[in-house]
Amino acid sequence: MRAVQVSRFGGPEVLVCADLERPSPISTEVLVRVVAAGINPVDVKTRQGSGVARWAGPPPFVPGWDVCGVVEAMGYGVTRFKEGDMVYGMPRFPRAAGAYAEYVTAPSRQLARMPRGISPNEAAALPLAALTAWQCLRDAAQIRDGQTVLVHGGGGGVGHLAVQIANVLGARVLTTGRGDREALNARDIDVALDLVGGADTCELLACVRPGGLLLAVADGADDEVKSQARRRGVRVQEPLVEPDGHALDEIAALVGSGALKVMVAETIPLEQAAAAHERLERGGVKGKLVLEVGRD
Ligand SMILES: NC(=O)c1ccc[n+]([C@@H]2O[C@H](COP(=O)([O-])OP(=O)(O)OC[C@H]3O[C@@H](n4cnc5c(N)ncnc54)[C@H](OP(=O)(O)O)[C@@H]3O)[C@@H](O)[C@H]2O)c1
Repeated sequence: MRAVQVSRFGGPEVLVCADLERPSPISTEVLVRVVAAGINPVDVKTRQGSGVARWAGPPPFVPGWDVCGVVEAMGYGVTRFKEGDMVYGMPRFPRAAGAYAEYVTAPSRQLARMPRGISPNEAAALPLAALTAWQCLRDAAQIRDGQTVLVHGGGGGVGHLAVQIANVLGARVLTTGRGDREALNARDIDVALDLVGGADTCELLACVRPGGLLLAVADGADDEVKSQARRRGVRVQEPLVEPDGHALDEIAALVGSGALKVMVAETIPLEQAAAAHERLERGGVKGKLVLEVGRD
């Protein structure tokens, strides 16, 4: 099968095309013929040797987690799907899933049927970003009607979905984009979602009310952030997204009802994965980048 591998840790040029053996599903797994693979910042970080490289590596390995494709075969015990179903998901994270390839295997309960009314390219853009927003806002923060949520970095892959999900959960939403930091002057925020990190995390913390929650998604929270949070009585969590087929069902329902829209900025052929990483690293992408791998 055609695939792209991280040949060694480094810049985009270490992404090389390879011809690899097709994987086979063991019990409880499905074999997915990949139609499209979403790109996330963690793919770039892992290619560089950081991110989740310690679990996904060592090179050579096939990077990527987000997939949408067709169920081609199933191992013993799978009841959730049948051959020919169109599925989507981000299996195995933070171990390697090998999404930049024509075929992947995945534990069946880490996948869901792709949402109605959108293309496979759009479905492939959803799993990791939407699950991050969902697990932060619905599961960790348990957002309730009338709460105020501040999404720092609201124009990116996670951010544009988080803004909509917070709205669906009944929150009033404030957001920032690069060059638009007005919302960082807000105070008494119930929940802040940090998708930017770095020095901004302390500034974001100052917006959160005592008893409120800062979700340090981008970089986690350093000692300075944690001690300031303790002084002010703000709770801090450092979430890491996990595969979750049932949450993907709920996200698919939101997309199917028109309440959640995913924005694909560009689709790029699998063979040009290096150019796609360069594009993401340059910044300014509105929404998501997706690799086109096969036909549905
Ligand atoms: N912990 C987890 O489980 C988890 C899961 C998903 C993502 N993440 C991390 O969370 C971060 C965001 O992920 P993503 O997929 O949303 O990335 P993304 O698509 O690159 O989006 C980041 C957004 O933040 C904007 N931004 C950058 N600097 C900013 C600033 N100073 N003020 C306001 N906005 C700013 C970017 O704008 P420009 O494009 O103009 O720079 C972009 O729109 C990444 O670091 C990613 O690795 C963590």
